[in-house]
Amino acid sequence: MEPLAEETKIGSQSEASSDIPTPADDKIQEDRKLLPIYEKKQDILKAICENLFVIVTGETGSGKTTQIPQYVVDDMRREDILAPLPEKSAKKYPFKCNDAYDSRMDRREVRAVVTQPRRVAAIQMAKRVAIESGCRLGGHVGYTIRFEDNSNPDTGIKYVTDGILVRECLMDPNLENYDVVILDEAHERSLFTDILFSLVKQAVIRRKGALRLVVTSATLQTKLFSEFFFNCPIIEASGRCYPVDVMYIDSHPEKRILNSVKAAIRIHINEPIGDILVFLTGFDECDKACKMCHEELMKLHESGKEMAPMLIMPLYGSMNTKQQNQIFQKTPEGSRKIVFCTNIAETSLTVDGIAYVIDCGLVKQKVHNPETGMETLMVVPISQVQAQQRTGRAGRTMEGKCLRLYKHKDFEKKMPKQTVPEILRTNLCSTVLTLLNLGIKNVIQFEFIETPGKESLLFALKQLFLLKAVDKDAQLTDLGREMNRFPLEPSYAKLILASNFYKCQDDMVTLVSILSTENIWIPVAARDETRFNKLEDIRKGFSVENSDHLTLVNVYQSWKDTRYSESFLRKNFLLFRAMKQARKIREQLLEISDRIHYKNVEKYFESALGLSDDGPTEKRFRRCMTEGFYMNAARHIKAQKEGTYLTAHDKIIVKVDRWSVFDMFSNYPDWLLYTELAGTMTGNKGIMRLATDIKVKWIEKKIPMLEKVDMERLEYAGDPPLHAGTKRTKIIMEKIETLIDQKKKENEAEEKNAVL
Ligand code: CDP
Ligand code: MG
Repeated sequence: MEPLAEETKIGSQSEASSDIPTPADDKIQEDRKLLPIYEKKQDILKAICENLFVIVTGETGSGKTTQIPQYVVDDMRREDILAPLPEKSAKKYPFKCNDAYDSRMDRREVRAVVTQPRRVAAIQMAKRVAIESGCRLGGHVGYTIRFEDNSNPDTGIKYVTDGILVRECLMDPNLENYDVVILDEAHERSLFTDILFSLVKQAVIRRKGALRLVVTSATLQTKLFSEFFFNCPIIEASGRCYPVDVMYIDSHPEKRILNSVKAAIRIHINEPIGDILVFLTGFDECDKACKMCHEELMKLHESGKEMAPMLIMPLYGSMNTKQQNQIFQKTPEGSRKIVFCTNIAETSLTVDGIAYVIDCGLVKQKVHNPETGMETLMVVPISQVQAQQRTGRAGRTMEGKCLRLYKHKDFEKKMPKQTVPEILRTNLCSTVLTLLNLGIKNVIQFEFIETPGKESLLFALKQLFLLKAVDKDAQLTDLGREMNRFPLEPSYAKLILASNFYKCQDDMVTLVSILSTENIWIPVAARDETRFNKLEDIRKGFSVENSDHLTLVNVYQSWKDTRYSESFLRKNFLLFRAMKQARKIREQLLEISDRIHYKNVEKYFESALGLSDDGPTEKRFRRCMTEGFYMNAARHIKAQKEGTYLTAHDKIIVKVDRWSVFDMFSNYPDWLLYTELAGTMTGNKGIMRLATDIKVKWIEKKIPMLEKVDMERLEYAGDPPLHAGTKRTKIIMEKIETLIDQKKKENEAEEKNAVL
């Protein structure tokens, strides 16, 4: 599941009130005019007036995200948008575009919505723009991210995560609330931005000239975008870039933290003043690097070394907003700032004053293998484009230096030229469900800017079919419709729906909330033996022997019993931020489940209807888990090493995690079900992160579903009927048969190895 890791204040305005900026002063307005984008202001406004689609590119930090929305909202009026397009431009479009039906002038101000692939960026940008326009955050300028709305119906500039805009398209496919949509950070090609290219394009076409789309990108690879939007104009804001000296150092990827700290300290001792930005792969690495850097500096200090003061700080998505604000504060005269960051600072957040960049050359990415269904966070090499972006962070305000912790040869040979778009490497299940809910009948034919490929789309349809979110013709069911109300992966949404019938909703919502936030346990390194052993004892103490999932529920419940005490969390090695977040998400999920039409989905949960309430909830809970995850059932292989299982569906060998209650107590039931699998992409082995003991009779009736998947039917649903014997059908049939053959052979080979 996607981690939801912000420090958030759901639905509260308290953040805004503590942040009321002073009226925008002259200095701020002067600074805005110094940004490279300012030179293009008139061009941009003219292009938006005269075209339905416009692309703007410019170096990171040139002002795209903060300025364009202000230009549009402050300098344009709605009548500029509703006025007919010049004939020359109107001719370009193969549809009617001078017939804006929305000609009521009930409001003259332009309203813009700006998407960001990251929550932190949405918040930060809204804050910054609120300050620049001298207004209260949540008023004229606001933001909405999942589980947190800090805007009002009259908000003129609204920053949202791209996922939120996809959701808004569900309620309002024509996006009638807005006059201009800005899809920002398009170069990142995040999953939802990719989908929005198509959804917003359709909305623009339907609004016949009353809606404009601006796509902004930090790189110049915009031909693909321009072609997708009827060869729309591209405006380039020239960045004022200073030269950056690039150096390569041969460093082992495993030693990236230590080596980057050493490099940073060398720079601090030997190089002129200027801040340092270090790219690592995860928040844990950033925290560790900060600690290590601090210790090293203390040592040097104690040995009598004279040095300028150094401020050390991390920057990653799950930091609270107060911590984030520190990053953007100017470094005091005479001292140096060093920021250990994740990919977040690559293009979406600009830290001013950086003169040195240290790049480890890696990034943490979600990778999905459609064959095994495994989705893993893996550390992989960045692309060459990304390496250039990172380097560019050093030359914004002065000449800079960039230290790459890899060989020049690796840059050329091991790094892909461009970043692979997320849509081509993730599990598309919830995306496909959303598309179906948007009324798209055949997702295989959806106009993606780059299609994820039939195989991945079919895999997603298959998962949805197994969950009964779609029928055998790939059409949305009542269950699929209700599942989509939750901003969750479909399996988890189904768990919550099911739990209403299994009468364990309170616990299930708790579980899903915890799984929606980051890991709740404070990470402790194994070499820190005392603390590590203590953590193990604590985790044992909370264990519910037959379920890792119930163990998590138990942790939460125990915290709740202390009336959410902070000292309880400290004592038990629990991350305050994560638990607090889980509590907020929990409230939101309960609110959503109050609005569900349970009568509509009752028929899907017949097996739960006869269950009596008096048995232990624990058993009903475990049984309920099979509703969302029966396809992840795995059977104990007794002949193999203890804790080895074979999945019922894909016949993959899986093992329980070392932190799982089953490993902790060496208790290996006949059947387990897991919710998350981690593992290698190539080997047919996975680690079940979280598992629950189930009875085979709970899934017996469901297992045949797994055999019933008719892929061809799923694929052509919504198409004009295809008759057997046509060439297309034949080719597909042949392909499916070869696939089946191949799978059979693999299974046979595997079964030989794994004697049951
Ligand atoms: O989107 P783009 O990368 O082109 O630039 P931007 O994010 O609009 O940033 C323009 C300027 O505003 C940069 O100099 C940022 O450092 C500054 N900014 C800031 O000081 N504080 C923020 N929270 C956001 C941006
Ligand atoms: Mg930007």
